[in-house]
Amino acid sequence: MKKILALMLALIMVFAMVACASTDTASDSTAADTADTTKDTADTADTAKDTADAAASDEVKTYKVGVAIYQFDDNFMTLYRNELESYMKSLETDTVKYEITIVDGKNDMATQTEQINSFITQGVDLIICNLVQTSSADTIVNKVVDADIPLVLINREPLAYDADGKPLDEAYEGILNNAKVCYVGADARQSGTYQGEIVAALPDKGDANGDGVVSYVMIEGDPENIDAQYRTEFSIKALTDAGIKVECLDDQVGNWATDKGQQIAANALSAHGDKVDVIFCNNDGMALGAAAAITAAGRTVGKDIYLLGVDALEECQEMVKNGTMTGTVLNDHIGQSHKAVDVAIQALNGEAIENYYWVDYVKVDASYFG
Ligand code: BGC
Repeated sequence: MKKILALMLALIMVFAMVACASTDTASDSTAADTADTTKDTADTADTAKDTADAAASDEVKTYKVGVAIYQFDDNFMTLYRNELESYMKSLETDTVKYEITIVDGKNDMATQTEQINSFITQGVDLIICNLVQTSSADTIVNKVVDADIPLVLINREPLAYDADGKPLDEAYEGILNNAKVCYVGADARQSGTYQGEIVAALPDKGDANGDGVVSYVMIEGDPENIDAQYRTEFSIKALTDAGIKVECLDDQVGNWATDKGQQIAANALSAHGDKVDVIFCNNDGMALGAAAAITAAGRTVGKDIYLLGVDALEECQEMVKNGTMTGTVLNDHIGQSHKAVDVAIQALNGEAIENYYWVDYVKVDASYFG
């Protein structure tokens, strides 16, 4: 009996030990689970942090860019602004976006000033401005600089002005004195010179009626625009520099517009008839109008009259190719708008920018097409 009791006791002890061991095992696994769970939680937190980090580095940065154009209703500036927008958009990445707002100054400085004020209030990161009046550059530059917004001026070069409001042949100090302000454009003297050189290179040097003098009609763009002033001056200077005798029959302001160009050319042709050897237009928009007036007057470009423009609009390149226009000068809206955007992005990235960026004009006469 004693033996049986001892055996039973031993069995109970064994069971107890096994039970104990299994409890230990159970509690061990609970601890392990808890540890695992804690680790899992930590892992989850790590993952969340990683995701947040990734999101932070992948975070989309949207720059607000305000673009003020002097007037949408301008052939050349239409090409320019469309190229500017599409090029800037093409430089977007997964993490950098450009929200571009383009406004029409309607050729009114008060309207454009309001548009710049509104860009500043909206807190844009950068402004690109094609001034309506370069004589207002001071007001605009000061406003934008005070708001600490980088400013890229395009197309209308602001020069220094004398006390009487006449532009001087000097760089505008408001640009030179500011690290965040620049001008991107082409040197209009070059375009005028090229127009004159195209005429001087003709077999009769532009003297279509053979009377020994190149008698011309000048159709000017907006006289407040330095492009108009320089093209007017330098086209004729290239002729006189080449030793050609010139006579101005008429010099009128066509404000860059085709209808005005047509009207001025028609009046000049009816007033001066065969005396007119050359019609110089400060841009192609007005040259298109002058071409219509030349045809209406029964004259033929390349035979009894010459016609010059600037910009090299596609339709004018075609005309130079087929001889209905003597020549034009490529005003490189692609090169200029791309440069303006590249510089804008540099400024947005906080990189240093220069004060001036120049893009070359290219002479376009019949030889341009080979
Ligand atoms: C262009 C003109 C244009 C003007 C606008 C000039 O550079 O040649 O066609 O009307 O810019 O400011």
